[in-house]
Formats: sequence, C-alpha cells, structure tokens
Amino acid sequence: MDQELINTIDHYIAGLVAPADEVLETTLQTSADAGMPQIHVSPVQGKLLHVLALLNGARRILEIGTLGGYSAIWLGRALPADGQLITLEHAARHAEVARANLERAGLADRVEVRVGDALTLMQQMIDAGTEPFDLVFVDADKESYRDYFQAALQLMRPGSVIVADNVIRRGAVLEATSPEPTVQAIQQFNAALAADPRVTATIMQTVGVKGLDGMAIAVVNR
Ligand code: SAH
Ligand code: DHB
Ligand code: MG
Repeated sequence: MDQELINTIDHYIAGLVAPADEVLETTLQTSADAGMPQIHVSPVQGKLLHVLALLNGARRILEIGTLGGYSAIWLGRALPADGQLITLEHAARHAEVARANLERAGLADRVEVRVGDALTLMQQMIDAGTEPFDLVFVDADKESYRDYFQAALQLMRPGSVIVADNVIRRGAVLEATSPEPTVQAIQQFNAALAADPRVTATIMQTVGVKGLDGMAIAVVNR
C-alpha cells in the first residue's frame, strides 16, 4: 500500500470533517510536552467516535484509557449539556494533563477523569449499580480487552454501543500463533465479541495516519 497517498487522503478527509482547532492542538501539544506516548486516535477517528455518540444519542459515555484527553474531547463534544463522560486512567500524570485539556475544552462540567485501574473502577461501578452507559470506548491496555468487554456488558443497556480501538494491529492478528501477548489478547477479544449472542458486531479496517489497524463496533441487542 502507498502510505503516502493514504496519509494525504486522511489529511483531505480531516480537512473536510475534522479540522484541528486550538483546543485539540493544545491537547496534543501538552500531551507531547508531558512526554506521553503519541497514541491518541487520529482526527478522523475522533470524528467517527463523535458521530457514533450522536447516532445513538449518547447521554452517558464511558472511556477506558484517557491519555491526554484527545478522544475524550471528541466524545465529550457529542454530549448534551446534561450529559456525562467518565474516563478511566491509571497514570496520575496523564489524568492531570487530561483534566487541564478538558477544562480548556469547556467540558469540565460533563467529563470526569477517574484515576485507577480501569477494571477495578468498572467493577466498583457495577457493584454500585451505576446507571448504564450509552457508549463505551475501549482504548487502554490490550491485554485486558476481554475483561473490559465483559465488564462493559454489565454497564450497558440494549442499544448501547461498544467501540474498541486497535483490533487489527497492522494485520498482526492474522498470525494464529503469535507469541505477542497483546496480539493474542486482541485475537481472543475479537473472537469473543463476534461470538457473543448479546451483541451485534462488526470490525472496520482503518487506514490513515495511524497506519493499518481496525476498530470494533458493536451494539447491545434489544
Ligand atoms: N483514548 C486516548 C488514548 C488512550 S492510550 C486517545 O485516543 O486520546 C491508553 C491509555 O490507557 C494510557 O494513557 C494508559 O496509561 C492507560 N491505561 C493503560 N492500562 C490501564 C489500566 N489498566 N487502567 C487504566 N488506564 C490504563
Ligand atoms: C498503541 C496503543 C493505542 O491505543 C493505539 O491507538 C496505538 C498504539 C500502543 O500501545 O502501541
Ligand atoms: Mg488506541
């Protein structure tokens, strides 16, 4: 594949539907300045999350893996004024940078960054009988994707949407006997998602500035 052409097309699409603004640019800059890995979703992927949240009329969103708040801003901007996004992050420094960025985005009133291990925080929400989320975005450590899926199912309602990033990994998932724990975990997540009778799922190959990867998108059956 011609990665240069793919990048040019991605920039073309972003210029049309996901142009950078000062808040998004500052978010990426402060994240880079803080020495965080630059593994946020691309602008066009951020816009996809935004559109999906609007499509299902999301009022409550759960994000697993905050980093500097880039994808949280795309999701948060799809919420109504009384909506809520809870985003889970175990690195205190990431959470701190993200909070400042969400504040700059004018979303501090509807986005809450919770610091801790995501699975532990999800179990706490399950135990507390937390109101279901309309959309869950899974984007933290790949080894835990299966556990995040099972926990998310207990935090969603019929019609809720679950989106998971990085489920193709440049095609690494094709290698049936990959020694990589992250690849094995993603393979098992993809198989579990596809086979689970509680959801209707698809996986979209994604090409663009982040290279070849994929996003899983599933809806909880009514
Ligand atoms: N969604 C972000 C990118 C997230 S990167 C965006 O697109 O802008 C993944 C994040 O998950 C990192 O910040 C990492 O610190 C966090 N993370 C990894 N393992 C975690 C865990 N077990 N619990 C909570 N957060 C975790
Ligand atoms: C990695 C993680 C991500 O969430 C991503 O979108 C890209 C790369 C990583 O851990 O390498
Ligand atoms: Mg990702």
